[in-house]
Amino acid sequence: MFKAIYATIYDQMSSGSERSGLSKERRKLLAEAHGATIEIGAGTGLNLAHYPPAVTRLWLVEPEPSMRKRLLRRADGHDDVEIVAAGAEALPFPDATFDTAVVTLTLCSVTDEDAALAEIARVLRPGGRLLFLEHVRDTDPAMARKQDHPVFLYSWIGCHPNRDTLTAISRAPFEVTTVRRGEVPKAPRVERPMIVGTATRSARG
Ligand SMILES: C[S@@+](CC[C@H](N)C(=O)[O-])C[C@H]1O[C@@H](n2cnc3c(N)ncnc32)[C@H](O)[C@@H]1O
Repeated sequence: MFKAIYATIYDQMSSGSERSGLSKERRKLLAEAHGATIEIGAGTGLNLAHYPPAVTRLWLVEPEPSMRKRLLRRADGHDDVEIVAAGAEALPFPDATFDTAVVTLTLCSVTDEDAALAEIARVLRPGGRLLFLEHVRDTDPAMARKQDHPVFLYSWIGCHPNRDTLTAISRAPFEVTTVRRGEVPKAPRVERPMIVGTATRSARG
């Protein structure tokens, strides 16, 4: 029930952050996407407007029916976009299908981050790229401890603000090629530390 409510208010809740710079961050990151592209945990589709023409076909994966309903609405009229009901941990695609994979504010929500990253690496071709924009564990230990015990709302919506996602990406068969630390504008303190970057799917694994 909470996830359905979350989907209903998601765009409105995010609008301050989007207007204050998050939307620009999305656009800058997604300018790097090309070829067959998969976005995991696409939510209501806030990235959709930012994909460049170099993306030849786009698959938007989203497991939550209430999010997917909004995603379908937003994708209406977009050619070459397919919406898929699936979770990151079991992507219904053969190995090495995609040139680009995208996660934005998603790895905090998946059930098993390592399994999700292994699965994303599986569907990316060697040399393919993961584009990421995620809110992550704070580098300040005092703040990180607060992120370990966020208010109950976070568990209701399935968000884990204490994840060290950059380490998790580096553990998977990825080489982090660029990364920048910043802050999600206007976000609550526990979900403010942000990483934005790219990682290349290595031939190992
Ligand atoms: C905070 S929202 C971010 C939505 C979108 N990526 C964005 O940038 O606005 C987190 C999204 O991850 C999705 N999600 C949760 N568990 C997931 C999983 N196991 N696999 C893929 N997506 C998942 C949620 O349904 C939700 O749409």
